[in-house]
Amino acid sequence: MAMIGLFGVLIAFIFFLVFQCFFVCKKSHNVALLENWPFLGMLPGILFNLPRIFYWLSEVHEANDMTFAFKGPWFSGTDMLFTVDPRNINHMLSSNFPNYPKGPEFKKIFEILGDGIVAADMELWEDLRKSGHALFHHQNFLKLTVSSTTSKLKNDLVPLLDQAAEENIVIDLQDVFQRFMFDTASILMTGYDQMSLSIEMPEVEFSEAADFAEEALFYRHLKPVILWRLQNLISVGEEDENCFGVFQQYVCKDHINKKKRREEWREKRANYQRRRDTSSSALTWFFWLLSNHPQVMTKIRQEINTKFDPTDLDKLVYLHAALSESMRLYPPIPFNHKSPSKSEVLPSGHKVEAESKIVICIYALGRMRSVWVEDASEFKPEIWISENGGLKHEPSSKFLVFNAGPRTCLGKHIALLQMKMVAVEIIQNYDFMVVEGQKIKPFPSVLLRIKHGLKVTVSKNI
Ligand code: HEM
Repeated sequence: MAMIGLFGVLIAFIFFLVFQCFFVCKKSHNVALLENWPFLGMLPGILFNLPRIFYWLSEVHEANDMTFAFKGPWFSGTDMLFTVDPRNINHMLSSNFPNYPKGPEFKKIFEILGDGIVAADMELWEDLRKSGHALFHHQNFLKLTVSSTTSKLKNDLVPLLDQAAEENIVIDLQDVFQRFMFDTASILMTGYDQMSLSIEMPEVEFSEAADFAEEALFYRHLKPVILWRLQNLISVGEEDENCFGVFQQYVCKDHINKKKRREEWREKRANYQRRRDTSSSALTWFFWLLSNHPQVMTKIRQEINTKFDPTDLDKLVYLHAALSESMRLYPPIPFNHKSPSKSEVLPSGHKVEAESKIVICIYALGRMRSVWVEDASEFKPEIWISENGGLKHEPSSKFLVFNAGPRTCLGKHIALLQMKMVAVEIIQNYDFMVVEGQKIKPFPSVLLRIKHGLKVTVSKNI
């Protein structure tokens, strides 16, 4: 009886704290965000701001000189240092790279990725990096990327957009881009076209599962490991077994039977398929920004009309600038994780303990006024154009969208090429109108996406 009574008092106390925090947070909106409450730490601030988590993180970084220590609930193991200070980024990702692996905690959270390159560290990562580099930079791979993208555009995307224009059908651009990238990635890695982008728009079980899994992976950062493991075990909340099950099933499904090569292909497929989401996210936000900045759309169209050469897309300087600017504001992968092997002091003066967690919010970095420009939240492709009319180079510690240092994205070139091909095809031939009344903002996930997609109507540009 005494135990039950004690437990009841404890529960009542926690509820009291949660409610108290909630009301204080509500009253003082931003200031209380970093309030460190007894027992609950800074969790209430983050929970209260979940619906606007990315904007909130940008504000808190700006207000705290780009680095702050987040304290999770007591004994939950969720303390972490947040930093977007380019000096720290350069230190961790480049100059002192060997001391900053992703760490065992990252591997636990992203266990779904298995031993793929994204979660690997040390020798395993070095091996995977070498083979990945050879694959993604092989001339034949690049040629195949161009030919599969061209045929997906002509055979599937164009007929779909034509039909949507003729029949005035509302389409979800985010879904369209996801299907486009899903099919081309599948052709590249397996030789098999999933045909998810066809006029019938068949249900794609894997895609929905991936969305849920990516959301669940975000929440794992805020929960004690024991809690999400338990949820996973009994399949409740974000840890619903369905999404992880389908995700894993797809990633491991065989299109080739030779046992010896199976593991190798599984690895490559897991990494490549996940990447399709990054390019589709980037394209979705890009077209959302264009719909709000018709003057940018006009300039890109003019550039395409005067300088377009299908064999040399690098001539489209303004298009490249607009894509970079869009990814500065909406980076497809919004977070990076590090965990020092040995404790040390970062260039900003913050001490980091061995095995502690460090999070770089790439979204917040792109919006820092002290790093970029005074109106850093504005979409201005011109900031990427140098005085001589060429592209301005920005250091990767500032423009971290494709990561920096030895772990720089291996598919950067391919991603930009594919995105430009899709953008040119659409901008040249179509106008589109965003359906009014949609809530367009990123939701909590490890991939920056719009919760209910981007619904648009399309018309032919003649
Ligand atoms: C707009 C599209 C893309 C963006 C913004 C992007 C961004 C990134 C980022 C931020 C990382 C570091 C991730 C981390 O360490 O946790 C990364 C790694 C990687 N990316 Fe990309 N990526 C894109 C497209 C692609 C594509 C299309 C491919 C494949 C063809 C690809 C292949 C890889 C690989 C293999 C790595 C792992 C590199 C390593 O750990 O050594 N990426 N990418």
